[in-house]
Amino acid sequence: MPEDRESISEKEADDRNGHEMESLSVNSRANGPEEQDDGIWDIHSHCLPGIDDGAKDWEMSLRMLQASWDSGVRTVIATPHYLPWRRHPLDADRVRNLCAEAQERCRRKLGIGMRILPGEELYFHNAIVEDLRAGRALTLAGTRTVLVEFSERVPWTELSAGLIQLRRSGYRPILAHAERYGCLRKDDYFREILDAGVYIQSNIQEVEGGLFSDMARWVKRKYREHEIHLTASDMHNLDTRPPISKDQLAWFEKKVDEAYRKELFSGNIRALLERG
Ligand SMILES: [Fe+2]
Repeated sequence: MPEDRESISEKEADDRNGHEMESLSVNSRANGPEEQDDGIWDIHSHCLPGIDDGAKDWEMSLRMLQASWDSGVRTVIATPHYLPWRRHPLDADRVRNLCAEAQERCRRKLGIGMRILPGEELYFHNAIVEDLRAGRALTLAGTRTVLVEFSERVPWTELSAGLIQLRRSGYRPILAHAERYGCLRKDDYFREILDAGVYIQSNIQEVEGGLFSDMARWVKRKYREHEIHLTASDMHNLDTRPPISKDQLAWFEKKVDEAYRKELFSGNIRALLERG
């Protein structure tokens, strides 16, 4: 272990934070109202039209939402990319307004009661906390939970330091598509971020990968070990990066026990959001 690597063990982060380190360990089960069943939550999606590289227009947006609904999704968190290198990365009010409009169009045009909550997929950068505090960047559904991504080749030192910074600033980071980060293939590093109170999101599409895909093998192992907290679509369109499908859900029905399945698709996000 390199000496200059900052440890993000739970205790250390807790001591420095001065605030509680809540755990949403899938091994210890979420303490949310699991008995309640409000359908599947899709917490990572690019379904708002014309705002990032996701849905191009309202037609595509509604088709993505209808397909999600048909698979059993009842709540979508819209998480367009917040990219710091853009001078005006995203307008928070525009995101909120588009969510309200998407929800209304689902009701009016499709006759479905899909709930659509505002969020963003935050690309990590040095001013991220400043942007969140100023309300320029959005958390998930107005809580302290944030969805954050890094460059796929991010070195461990930067990844861990960034996640620590968010934790110390009072946010609860969900690491988006955790399977993409090569540095996390090292089990010790992965365990450290779990222990530090970081939540792990995986893209559902990865379970379709075969034996020859390192990424798919890693993801499936992490599901077996119950070390992923949240599964989501990261949908951008209808074909190459599609909404959650029944075939994908069938994999979970076959391979994952029911209690853990509920945590992945609804229990854990509800427990997180209820904490405010
Ligand atoms: Fe995404």
